[in-house]
Amino acid sequence: MQTIFSPRSAWSREFPRRMEPIECDEAVALVERIARDASFLHQFRPLVKRAPRNAAEPIILATCLAAGASGAALHLFYWPIGASTPIHDHTSWGVYQCVGGALVEDRYTRLDGGEQPETAHLRKRWRRRWNDRDGASTVGAYAKGIHRIANYSSRPSLSLHMYGPRMGYDPRRDFVCDRIEELPEMGIVQLVV
Ligand SMILES: [Fe+2]
Repeated sequence: MQTIFSPRSAWSREFPRRMEPIECDEAVALVERIARDASFLHQFRPLVKRAPRNAAEPIILATCLAAGASGAALHLFYWPIGASTPIHDHTSWGVYQCVGGALVEDRYTRLDGGEQPETAHLRKRWRRRWNDRDGASTVGAYAKGIHRIANYSSRPSLSLHMYGPRMGYDPRRDFVCDRIEELPEMGIVQLVV
């Protein structure tokens, strides 16, 4: 686990240290500012070099967690060639932006009211291809943000994700591409107090 962090990086400088909750609109501007900073991706190049080129699932390379009440979590996702999430929802609002390579997002609408346990009736709403020249995409909590993200391109991709505080937690559910509380497997972690 690498814990050295560039204190002058946008990742570190922009992360909210205040106690008030951060709103989704503000997170969009923040994620876009971090993504524009040339030093941001540069600091993760050694980690990207060590990451597998092909894999079925994305890997979280780095995490920045707010220990205060703002509850924000920031993750850098690495997407090997062929990596995909299942279709999933989130426990909070989320903002994500492709910062290297290309990703495909499929977004779904939930048609049922949750009457059947462990079953959701979905309809695909749209598909978009995101690259590092596009801005951020947002999801709402639960039925307001059901999607799947995949790297169907011929090279690995990177994306930056920010999540708000959890609106609820059900340990029986599998959350993917959501905020995490654990340390990333192979990356950098920074706790902001
Ligand atoms: Fe997601």
